[in-house]
Amino acid sequence: MGKLERRSWAEPFKIKVVEPLKMTTREDRLKAMAEAGYNTFLLRSEDVYIDLLTDSGTNAMSDYQWAGMMLGDEAYAGSKNYYHLEENVGKFYGYKYLVPTHQGRGAEHIISKLLIKPGDYVPGNMYFTTTRLHQELAGGTFVDVIIDEAHDSQNLHPFKGNIDLQKLEDLIKKVGEKKISYVTVAATVNMAGGQPISMENLRRIRALTSKHNIKVVFDATRAVENAYFIKMREKGFEQRSIAEILKEMCSYTDGATMSGKKDLLVNIGGFLALNDYDVFEEARNMVVVYEGLHTYGGLAGRDMEAMARGIEEAVQEPHIKARIGQVEYVGDKLQSIGVPIVLPVGGHAVFLDAKRFLPHIPQLQFPAQTLAAELYLDSGIRSMERGIVSAGRSKETGDHYYPKLELVRLTFPRRVYTQAHCDVTAESVEAVFENRDRIKGLKMVYEPKYLRFFQARFERL
Ligand code: F0G
Repeated sequence: MGKLERRSWAEPFKIKVVEPLKMTTREDRLKAMAEAGYNTFLLRSEDVYIDLLTDSGTNAMSDYQWAGMMLGDEAYAGSKNYYHLEENVGKFYGYKYLVPTHQGRGAEHIISKLLIKPGDYVPGNMYFTTTRLHQELAGGTFVDVIIDEAHDSQNLHPFKGNIDLQKLEDLIKKVGEKKISYVTVAATVNMAGGQPISMENLRRIRALTSKHNIKVVFDATRAVENAYFIKMREKGFEQRSIAEILKEMCSYTDGATMSGKKDLLVNIGGFLALNDYDVFEEARNMVVVYEGLHTYGGLAGRDMEAMARGIEEAVQEPHIKARIGQVEYVGDKLQSIGVPIVLPVGGHAVFLDAKRFLPHIPQLQFPAQTLAAELYLDSGIRSMERGIVSAGRSKETGDHYYPKLELVRLTFPRRVYTQAHCDVTAESVEAVFENRDRIKGLKMVYEPKYLRFFQARFERL
């Protein structure tokens, strides 16, 4: 990778439909931000210029996917789109059994309820908000076993998503293998800055867990992006296709939870995929309670068709190269003007390092939350806090978790924004950076009980 010539990641598509954006003034934005309690989740999308809140469900679908939407078989039971999805999950991910769900957390809910007993431990490579919450609601305790490098925004380790096998082994020794429900392995670890896990690490996790009879549940949400990093960075994979790498990754796991709203280029959808028939039986039984019949799991037939087709497009090399190339383009631009970001640049987002961007704001005055608000005020660009607000509170002590990483995520929807949008984004971050000394922190004035970052409200200090 390295050098980013324009030509190296030009979009392998052209634009057929456009959606106009509203331009706002600073006065408009001041009003909107105050009404939203300085929480970008509470802004109206209409008031946003470039929306980098998330890459989840914000993708542009292709004409092939839209054509598939017209072929939706909206039968309550046995929709043909379910069978197409099942076929493609088997073909590209390699899992035997499929349970569709409305989105990723639907799958997390089911697998957590099925496999976690109260008092169990669930190790994983850094937490994800919804994943950990479902594990805790099922009575489990999440244990972070990611390598230490992942917590350091400047460490250049090529696979900062790796699990520290010593940490995992120590946990198994300490609590005993029977007390471990499974290991959650996430591809391109979101909270670490979109950092990949290596194939070598996956193999070794499989070897260790097999020895102890422990299952591995893969969070395959951004596994295609991870496969691309393996191809670029790991010896022996240069000549392998993204599809082959993806399938090998999954082969070291027992099942997967999937938010199709990311890699799979759709606006809604997810699934639980499994290899173990007995677990599948139970999951299929449970999905009818919480999501819908086992052949639609809360999705319309057309949405399953769009996701089935999205799987095929996601692994196309020009697509994934342009997708990650665009994110790197912005990352390189920001780095070149001295803005502190998480390195290496991740797969789905550029993460601003708010601790170093706003060193005068203490963590309890929410530097990342503040920075996200300031960026919106400057230009109408919407980003997301991924720091102390997202981390929430410990269920034991009730105190905040104090994550080492206090980040603002500029997340790129797939196939949505142009290079000029990327340039404007970098210019706006630069403008905020130049005025950083004048920025003051926030205080939290409303805190919801679960996943507080979505609905918390703040006031300026
Ligand atoms: N796992 C990961 C790694 C995720 O990033 C997400 C969602 C989920 C699971 C849950 O999936 O939203 O379909 O229920 N991440 C979104 C984000 C919300 O903005 O990063 P979901």
